[in-house]
Amino acid sequence: TADADLAGRHVVVSAGGTREPIDPVRFLGNRSSGKQGYALARTAAARGARVTLVSANAALPDPAGVDVVHVGTAVQLREAVLKAAADADAVVMAAAVADFRPAEYATGKIKKRDDKADPTITLVRNPDILAEISADRARPGQVVVGFAAETDDVLANGRTKLERKGCDLLVVNEVGERKTFGSEENEAVVLGADGSETPVPYGPKEGLADVVWDLVQERLV
Ligand code: PMT
Repeated sequence: TADADLAGRHVVVSAGGTREPIDPVRFLGNRSSGKQGYALARTAAARGARVTLVSANAALPDPAGVDVVHVGTAVQLREAVLKAAADADAVVMAAAVADFRPAEYATGKIKKRDDKADPTITLVRNPDILAEISADRARPGQVVVGFAAETDDVLANGRTKLERKGCDLLVVNEVGERKTFGSEENEAVVLGADGSETPVPYGPKEGLADVVWDLVQERLV
């Protein structure tokens, strides 16, 4: 990896997990810690890029030299990512975005009441930010990268997801005890829309991040 090979580039990274509010005290969320996205932001900054990190609910310190935008929900994440992507050379979606949100927000805490039927939460679809960015590139040659955390048929599901989302690269990581969600380490295969497959062995999330930037760098025009 050449030093500062991303100098003069603007990259956008999303990290963390969205939280979709149910009532003032509850939300639908996921186990993303933000560590993989923050590792991507740090490594890109170390390689000279201007970095915008859109962070959803990560309990991590803002990385030095990175513009951090804090968001809560998928709708807020979409707005922040689209805004930052307008002049970006690359967008990497490492965030775990909720596919659905509660159709209604209860302004008062939902109470347990014996005389009432069990409550039902109706869900509605959230926008698919990765698919939207891939289909409608803010600038020609913009490189778009997605992530997929899978539990089974990892490569086959990854390939299908890559095609469905329309991104250039998809980082497929298998959900496991000491990788993906929450841990310091990860292990992945990076699938390319050109048919390429780049395995990344188990190791620190920075290592995977550097491989992602290598693959992005090769595709930048
Ligand atoms: O944060 P850590 O604890 O370090 O964990 C890292 C991680 C496991 C969260 C990360 O490596 C990862 O895999 N992120 C994607 C999680 C996932 O399962 O994504 P998905 O399969 O639901 O979505 C696929 C892709 O579409 C992702 O790039 C996602 O950001 C994007 N997406 C999903 C839904 C949606 N409504 N809009 C989106 O843009």
